[in-house]
Amino acid sequence: MKVSRVLYAIAIVAISLVMVGCSQPPAVAPDQLTSTVPDAKAKKSYKDLIVGYVQLGAESEWRTANTDSVKEAATQLGVELRFSDAQQKQENQISAIRALIAQKVDVIGVAPLVETGWDDVFKEAKDAGIPIILVDRRAAVSPDLYVTLMGSDFLEEGRKAARIMAQLTDGKANIVELQGTQGSAPANDRFAGFREVLKDYPDMKIIDTEDGNFTVAKGKEVMQAFLKAHGKDITAVFAHNDDMALGAIKAIEEYGLKPGVDIKIVSVDAARGAFEAMIAGKLNATVEGNPLLGPEFLELALKVVNGESVPKWIPSKESQFLASQGADQLEQILSTRKY
Ligand code: AHR
Repeated sequence: MKVSRVLYAIAIVAISLVMVGCSQPPAVAPDQLTSTVPDAKAKKSYKDLIVGYVQLGAESEWRTANTDSVKEAATQLGVELRFSDAQQKQENQISAIRALIAQKVDVIGVAPLVETGWDDVFKEAKDAGIPIILVDRRAAVSPDLYVTLMGSDFLEEGRKAARIMAQLTDGKANIVELQGTQGSAPANDRFAGFREVLKDYPDMKIIDTEDGNFTVAKGKEVMQAFLKAHGKDITAVFAHNDDMALGAIKAIEEYGLKPGVDIKIVSVDAARGAFEAMIAGKLNATVEGNPLLGPEFLELALKVVNGESVPKWIPSKESQFLASQGADQLEQILSTRKY
């Protein structure tokens, strides 16, 4: 009797289990679930973006303005910015890019110190699926290793400087040149563009040229050496940026000559210091280079991350300014100038 009760109980439990099994929902094929999973390719907004910016240093007024522009734009748009300052060392820029790749940021902006030496690290970024945007300066790499370059036409800046210099000197000058950082795109192109125009002016001669590294201090030091070597033979200075021109102005004054009068000076950037020097009559002209690239850089970053196509080069719109425009006009421009 007891045995049959036990067998009965076992049978009841077995039947219940079978019924419970039959009441489970049928298995669903994985592809039928995709509509409920968030779309992996959903468009990002600024607030979702994590952007790396690998700045080359803080050598000039232009560079500081560029850094501020990127940081301010990121804050305004709510973008998470991971910024690094390489302090004029390419190896620091390369390490910073590698760190950003490891952090899996969405996109990396780089202002390359020099043109060459980027192939390996840019390839690493590409392999990790992280787009590189070149900001300000070109890098000599295969075009598939970066998505776009935004910045100035440095070659044209060199040409503009030479045309202005030809006007200032009536096509007759002994010029000394303060070059920007050796191997950098702006130094290479401003050097070449300036010479391109000078071919049409046989009486304009470059009597000396040296690297002034885009800084006031080095510009002054190199100008002192030029003055020691050539003295009053120097009639004109072409400085690849305003900071070096400001250094040269100090050296010329200390030498006992009048910058802007005894020696004509043309530079590049059109930063605030250059306007002040033009108003004081110590600098004759500056060719504009726009560092305020932050908002456009982040707009591009968002487009690139969202798979939109962008032009391979986005040139900046730039002007030029002359001391001969007069102090009143220059003061007025300076009052609204952001850099
Ligand atoms: O690459 C732009 C150049 O870099 C600017 O002319 C100079 O001032 C800066 O350091």
